[in-house]
Amino acid sequence: MTPDLLEQGARRAEEHRVLQATGKNNTESGGRHAGTGRITTPGEVDIAHGRILYLEDVSVSFDGFKAINKLSLDIAPGELRCIIGPNGAGKTTLMDIISGKTRPDEGTVFFGSTIDLLRYKEAEIAQLGIGRKFQKPTVFEQLTVFENLELALNTDKRVKASLLFRLDSAQSDRLAEILVTIHLANSMNRKAGNLSHGQKQWLEIGMLLMQDPKLLLLDEPVAGMTDEETARTAELFLTLKGKHSLMVVEHDMSFIKSISEIVTVLCDGSVLAQGTLDQVQANERVIEVYLGR
Ligand SMILES: Nc1ncnc2c1ncn2[C@@H]1O[C@H](COP(=O)(O)OP(=O)(O)OP(=O)(O)O)[C@@H](O)[C@H]1O
Ligand SMILES: [Mg+2]
Repeated sequence: MTPDLLEQGARRAEEHRVLQATGKNNTESGGRHAGTGRITTPGEVDIAHGRILYLEDVSVSFDGFKAINKLSLDIAPGELRCIIGPNGAGKTTLMDIISGKTRPDEGTVFFGSTIDLLRYKEAEIAQLGIGRKFQKPTVFEQLTVFENLELALNTDKRVKASLLFRLDSAQSDRLAEILVTIHLANSMNRKAGNLSHGQKQWLEIGMLLMQDPKLLLLDEPVAGMTDEETARTAELFLTLKGKHSLMVVEHDMSFIKSISEIVTVLCDGSVLAQGTLDQVQANERVIEVYLGR
């Protein structure tokens, strides 16, 4: 090979590495560059088929009780999908399945069109870019807001590694940006334990964002929040939409109304209806299920 060709190759490889590192490879072909085949980088999510998440005929039983029953669902890249449904409908179990906490008895669960999530463990799924937020905030109360966000980047939790861990400049920029996004820029030096419930929830979302997840699973994120905190959370989710895909489970209908595009109604472990909030609220079967509670 001539030095010229070597140089060109090295330049292309470097360009590709920078595109990958900066996340600026979201071409229309889903991050794949013309002439390089289907997937250029291992772990890259292939969204060429217009889906970031795809479930088909998923079922899971607990002691003979079908909590999820032939459930099929897909979510587009950048979409903010709301999931509603009565208590016990299977909403949390659905998130457990996507995040790898619960393994379904049957069915298909794909992240993009090539990553079969059923082949991965819970921690690996988080690494692949699926962030999960549980209802109860789990921030480190003794640490400051800043330290909590900093820690979220450090995947090596051993004490020595934690002491030596330092942010690089791109990570510092990212942290500063996230502080603004989660409305905590003025509280970065406050102990997390002194934050309000709503602020703790935002901090936890910020900790997930530090990992730059492609898909965020948020289970009852505004439960226990004041009206003002709920409104700010709606704003926050609307700013995250597009950059990330979001699946939001909530019972608070006014919150759902303020953020929703497509709403999926779950009941008895299956999709009962799907459409705009107005459409599903006018659906006879949905009305029956909610009134019958
Ligand atoms: N690990 C488990 N073992 C046994 N039963 C379970 C388990 N997880 C969930 N279930 C049952 O599966 C059903 C669905 O539960 P799930 O928590 O997914 O409902 P949900 O839609 O999130 O309800 P809610 O709105 O009350 O949070 C319920 O009947 C629940 O009791
Ligand atoms: Mg639940």
